[in-house]
Amino acid sequence: MTNMTSTGTALADALTGAFAGHFGRHPDGVWQAPGRVNLIGEHTDYNEGLVLPFAINRSTTVAVAARADRTVRLASGFPGAEPVEFDLDTFTPDQAAGWSAYPAGVAWELERAGITVPGFDLFVSSDVPVGAGLSSSAALECAVALGLSDLTGAGLGRADLADIGRRAENNVVGAPTGIMDQSASMLGTKDCAVYLDCRDLSSRPVPLGLAEAGLVCLVIDTKVSHAHASGGYAARRASCVRGARALGVGALRDLGAADLPGAERILDWETFRRVRHIVTENGRVARTAELLGTHGPLAIGELLDASHRSMRDDFEISCPELNLAVDTARANGAIGARMTGGGFGGSAIALVPVDDADRARSAVLAGFDARGLPAPDVFAVLPAEGARRL
Ligand code: GLA
Repeated sequence: MTNMTSTGTALADALTGAFAGHFGRHPDGVWQAPGRVNLIGEHTDYNEGLVLPFAINRSTTVAVAARADRTVRLASGFPGAEPVEFDLDTFTPDQAAGWSAYPAGVAWELERAGITVPGFDLFVSSDVPVGAGLSSSAALECAVALGLSDLTGAGLGRADLADIGRRAENNVVGAPTGIMDQSASMLGTKDCAVYLDCRDLSSRPVPLGLAEAGLVCLVIDTKVSHAHASGGYAARRASCVRGARALGVGALRDLGAADLPGAERILDWETFRRVRHIVTENGRVARTAELLGTHGPLAIGELLDASHRSMRDDFEISCPELNLAVDTARANGAIGARMTGGGFGGSAIALVPVDDADRARSAVLAGFDARGLPAPDVFAVLPAEGARRL
């Protein structure tokens, strides 16, 4: 705890300095929100199903100061990211471009929720890799949402702030994503995953017990870039809607394993496999949470593997690099591994006994090298606490 607090203080000091260097004044506060990995439960969130993500020890931090006018000025420490300025009174979502769409979108959605946001100056820094499927966008949205909520005294709850972030992503950034990433970033607690029911949005922390079981969670960032604003993600979402309609249910969440034989008779083969992924994945999330409680993380490896197979074969959102990462980690000590996040690139996770972590990492690097693929980033993540003011 001491460590985390002193790291937090150092980070807040550094960001306060960067803010002052850029804007020539002091920020009113510094807020931080983490990225996430999803342990299990993929593409279930927008089907009103179950997810089990956890916030990680990689975060986005924003220093913010309110202004007396309605001007917003955004700047960042990212190389090549130009500062952006706009007026809240004239802003419309079609003006939002690049990284500024996230903070602009949050301000816009807070206003649409009836909260008057003053103009503000904002400086951002982050160690969540962008485009790696670790929710750098949700981290930015949540840090800004919490900061603006505090500054305006809006006093929104964490679930409401997560929803503001999701709406910014859907309506301003233009990515048709669900509520999982922002929920993990807002609701995460140390050493726990967030068990979230995306129908009623009830949630509870589920202790992971990784360290006690001698496990580490390795992230393998394949460097294959994914873009949720277009393409495959939206197509999968549309398939799920089609499947639910054809089967006469409001959402795929309403189906269980016993409904699958009937669904197979009615649906085309592709839509059926999309539906089967969602139905079986919901079952795996519930079972994973249960096993974590009764037997700990050493018991969940097969569920992670089965989840990956389902995404590879039924939902078809994996790619050769993700499969290589998963298979190689599994063959070199991992007790379970799967791609994580929206798919079509991004990262895989592997639960690996501490003593095998180096071997697994080297084997993955060697496997990519042998196929002439760019080297992935392989690093350990810890389940960390959610968004906070530093
Ligand atoms: C992305 C989206 C989430 C979720 C996952 C897939 O991360 O932002 O809402 O749908 O993909 O599980």
